Amino acid sequence: MSGYSQKTARKPSGNPLRDPRDKRLPRIAGPCSLVIFGATGDLARKKLLPAIFDLAAAGLLPPSFGLVGFARRDWTDEQFREFVLDSVKGHTRTPFRAAVWERLAEGIRFVQGSFDESPAFDRLATTLAELDRERGTAGNHAFYLAIPPDSFPTVCTRLHEHGLAEQLRKRWRRVVIEKPFGHDLESAQELNSAVNEVFPEDNVFRIDHYLGKETVQNILALRFANQLFDPIWNAHYVDHVQITMAEDIGLGGRAGYYDGIGAARDVIQNHLLQLLALTAMEEPISFEPSEIQSEKVKVLSATRLAEPIAETSARGQYTDGWQGSEHVCGLQDEEGFVTGSTTETFAAITLEVDTRRWAGVPFYLRTGKRLGRRVTEIAVVFKRAPHLPFDATMTEELGQNALVIRIQPDEGITMRFGSKVPGSSMQVRDVNMDFSYGQAFTVSSPEAYERLILDVMLGEPSLFPSNAEVELSWAILDPALREWAEAGTPDPYESGTWGPASADQLLARSGREWRRP
Ligand code: BG6
Repeated sequence: MSGYSQKTARKPSGNPLRDPRDKRLPRIAGPCSLVIFGATGDLARKKLLPAIFDLAAAGLLPPSFGLVGFARRDWTDEQFREFVLDSVKGHTRTPFRAAVWERLAEGIRFVQGSFDESPAFDRLATTLAELDRERGTAGNHAFYLAIPPDSFPTVCTRLHEHGLAEQLRKRWRRVVIEKPFGHDLESAQELNSAVNEVFPEDNVFRIDHYLGKETVQNILALRFANQLFDPIWNAHYVDHVQITMAEDIGLGGRAGYYDGIGAARDVIQNHLLQLLALTAMEEPISFEPSEIQSEKVKVLSATRLAEPIAETSARGQYTDGWQGSEHVCGLQDEEGFVTGSTTETFAAITLEVDTRRWAGVPFYLRTGKRLGRRVTEIAVVFKRAPHLPFDATMTEELGQNALVIRIQPDEGITMRFGSKVPGSSMQVRDVNMDFSYGQAFTVSSPEAYERLILDVMLGEPSLFPSNAEVELSWAILDPALREWAEAGTPDPYESGTWGPASADQLLARSGREWRRP
């Protein structure tokens, strides 16, 4: 039988634009409205509203589109439109175009109210019904909860009570929720079941904005579209993997969200464990969302913290120091943080993945604020060659081969390997071979939120972690969180450095060291 399956066959249609299976076509959302709860907050202002404009500018929003802001402020539609306009002008990726704005602005509405106020949801229902009539949004509504998670159950219940969550065959109702999805496994389960009581799992879209990044999606292309890497993508060749998300910014102004949460819950539980899952998972049998999710679930089920946790993990909190030429304060002096706060701003853990492919290969994950530089990368570090037919002096400057997936800011891939230094003697030294998105492609990457909001409207769930993935990620992290809670204050590190000494020690124990990106 030929390998040319139904799955790969492309419809021999006269007009390829009509073939829904052709994934190269721009995907344009159908008629719908998007309601943003917490529409006046930072996330909406800096990310969501600009992303909606960028989608409109790219022609990816339908003409029948409505945008409803729901928040406590006593605003009119016009005042909210001005707020959206300011946010668009300040934060979009694409240049401002008045014609795009005017079309978008026609569908913008505002509903004033608090999350537990029933009459406000009556007003919301009326506004949505008007948009259906006036703009043809067809009863399709996405509710984006850009609000603290403890309000999710209340909002979902109110939506249900007002018939706004009701799923009918010809129209859809979806809910989009932002992390943190709980603060440990138990609270995540409670939250998930409260949301699922109203919205069935297929209609819940959990945002992990890292999955919307082009470079993160490229992990699957790199691994599964090429023959080059798979043969060495395993414990026979890989020594260890380092996943780093470093930020140079501090936490001024974010105490309300961050104090008591810390780096591990904020970043490792979601972004970094998703990066691990994509790096370590097996090949899905297709790119159907359920197939990708099921491979991620399998690999997360096989992942656990290396023991003893006290030696395989590190926690830190930044003190004052220099960030470039600026002197910055320590966490305890940041506005809103109490002296004596034990919230960690740096966390590193060691994970083991108990599968044939990865047995014995440590995965080191680290993240922190006020580190040396903003960088996110996955470095797959290879074992040394079993034998080198050179004198030791010739390879003194040869390190370990590495393949580094640069997620941001300088998106691309680096391969690091040894090369002869030009000259009459044999000297081998590490060199880099680089692929850079900026140079290889002329189009700029969309912002993560553009892709994710579009996928919500299209009902395409591949880039959203499932309930199972979220709960497994908590199950992996919880033992460290418990142990750290008892350990008290995290180790101090100076702002502008690469974290506490304990982070270096954890790798030094196995004769390794962190990359200094
Ligand atoms: C968020 C975290 O999820 O990601 C923030 O809550 C962090 O603490 C942010 O600053 C970083 O996102 P990005 O896309 O700039 O790497």
